[in-house]
Amino acid sequence: NTESDDYVIDDELILKIFKPREDFTHKGIYGKSIIVGGSYGKIGAAVLATKSALKTGSGLTFVLAPKCGYEILQTSSPEAMFIEGGEKNINQIDEVENAVYGIGPGLGTEEKTEKTLLKFLGNHYSPVILDADALNIISKNENHLKSIPKNSVITPHPKEFERLFGNTENSFERLDLAKTIAKQLGIFIVLKDHHTQIIIPDGKVFYNITGNSGLAKGGSGDILTGIITSLLAQNYSSQEAAILGVWLHGKAADFAAEKNSKEAMQPTNVIDEIGNVFLDLN
Ligand code: APR
Ligand code: MG
Repeated sequence: NTESDDYVIDDELILKIFKPREDFTHKGIYGKSIIVGGSYGKIGAAVLATKSALKTGSGLTFVLAPKCGYEILQTSSPEAMFIEGGEKNINQIDEVENAVYGIGPGLGTEEKTEKTLLKFLGNHYSPVILDADALNIISKNENHLKSIPKNSVITPHPKEFERLFGNTENSFERLDLAKTIAKQLGIFIVLKDHHTQIIIPDGKVFYNITGNSGLAKGGSGDILTGIITSLLAQNYSSQEAAILGVWLHGKAADFAAEKNSKEAMQPTNVIDEIGNVFLDLN
């Protein structure tokens, strides 16, 4: 029975998930996030994801990107630590102990990057966030799907979803396929769209109703990756991080649209509103 397994993400659910920051804590409590992404000409994607991870509150934030992104990343996000992963493309992914990896924004799909990503995933057993070019790399071969760690969160838009799992006739068929895959692979699928759906391994579906068409611009997805990575690092479960993350991203976008219009709002304005969403929650 699919009907009883569908939920709308409302304020009540969000308040149940959200954990306010407590007084007697230190940065160690709030985890480590590491964004892996960027390539020559697409460093901006890594900038957006890194800023979003910082704004969402992770205790320590790293960004692993190619050397060509060093200055822009250190200048735009001085709070984040830079780890060099190659010259113009990523060809090495270092392990940062106990860090949560958000991989894909602006990554590129070069062969060296592909090898590096697959090797990393093959040796990594805690959940990761996979987006954009990380998903496009995995799409290249069906066998790559097996290397996704259990309880990972993947954030495909409809095209990326179809590249990964094959074409579907309509959104209903896509949702059914997503339920099968989430169960098979034991992963959480964030199917991004006007109303993003979160499909969890047991077949439940959570519908998000925040967000607006001002998000229909390059860079919006990179912000979501940073947000979910940061929440997972802060000890939210994969399910909680996906639900709270998608809702928060949409809410910040709604605030950005009020101030700037859906037309003019930029992904950067969405990042700037993350704080106001937390103020409302607290
Ligand atoms: N209404 C509500 N939300 C929307 C709408 C809309 N009309 N359009 C887009 N969004 C939201 C989606 O739900 C998602 O969270 O904006 C985000 C868009 O994410 P992506 O589709 O990944 O777009 P983008 O930010 O451009 O991705 C950056 O990654 O997927 C690759 O090729 C893509 O290079 C691009 C990069
Ligand atoms: Mg994207």
